[in-house]
Amino acid sequence: MVRKLFSYFIPINVYKKNSAISKSLEVTWNNGELVLDSKSTNYSYGSLQRILRKGLKYIGFERIRTFESVLLLGVAGGSVIKTLVDEVQFKGKITGVEIDEAVIKIANEYFELYKIPNIEIVIDDAFEYVLKTKKTYDLIIIDIFQDTNMPNFLFEDFFINRINSLLNLNGFILFNTMVISKLQEDRNLLYKSKFKGNYSLRMYPKVEVHNELFTIKKLA
Ligand SMILES: C[S@@+](CC[C@H](N)C(=O)[O-])C[C@H]1O[C@@H](n2cnc3c(N)ncnc32)[C@H](O)[C@@H]1O
Repeated sequence: MVRKLFSYFIPINVYKKNSAISKSLEVTWNNGELVLDSKSTNYSYGSLQRILRKGLKYIGFERIRTFESVLLLGVAGGSVIKTLVDEVQFKGKITGVEIDEAVIKIANEYFELYKIPNIEIVIDDAFEYVLKTKKTYDLIIIDIFQDTNMPNFLFEDFFINRINSLLNLNGFILFNTMVISKLQEDRNLLYKSKFKGNYSLRMYPKVEVHNELFTIKKLA
């Protein structure tokens, strides 16, 4: 607890590991809060948790409470799971897909992810998982980063169509993106243009400066 107190003055690192996917994984006390960071960005808790909490608020906590199933692509420390369970009071099933086993070890050891009863964690590439799964979901949260980089597949038609087919009617996609360059701004505009007709898309730019959120509803 002394570390937590000191962290209001200066961040205190308690764990660090090199990572092929994220360059590094670091657990740090920052402003009295334990956070998980990759080499150049915040992965879990801290600003990342605030960003996804905003996304869930845009969809509506009450609406989410009526959902039965959530698919989370990109688990890291699991801060959005904590928001769903503790703040939204979501009681349905959460499936979390994470490519990096080392991240899940950190989530369990430092952020007590194992204590949450209604989750199933799958160690797999999200792209592979959405190809294989036969289940459908009411809410699909896409939060995939490799340090600051977002893999191209997230923006390609094949993946988009696959995600859409896994989404139940009246269900939502919450997609977290990072926009730092003009190229990424254009990439997001192109992404937006792919949802027409049976989808209602909203874009929330400049959430915590560099993030842009999409909420996409599949209309009945
Ligand atoms: C920003 S973090 C996720 C934060 C998490 N949603 C939370 O609420 O705390 C991004 C995660 O995506 C994972 N990731 C990167 N590429 C992936 C892929 N192809 N499939 C699944 N997970 C991936 C990274 O290992 C990292 O843990």
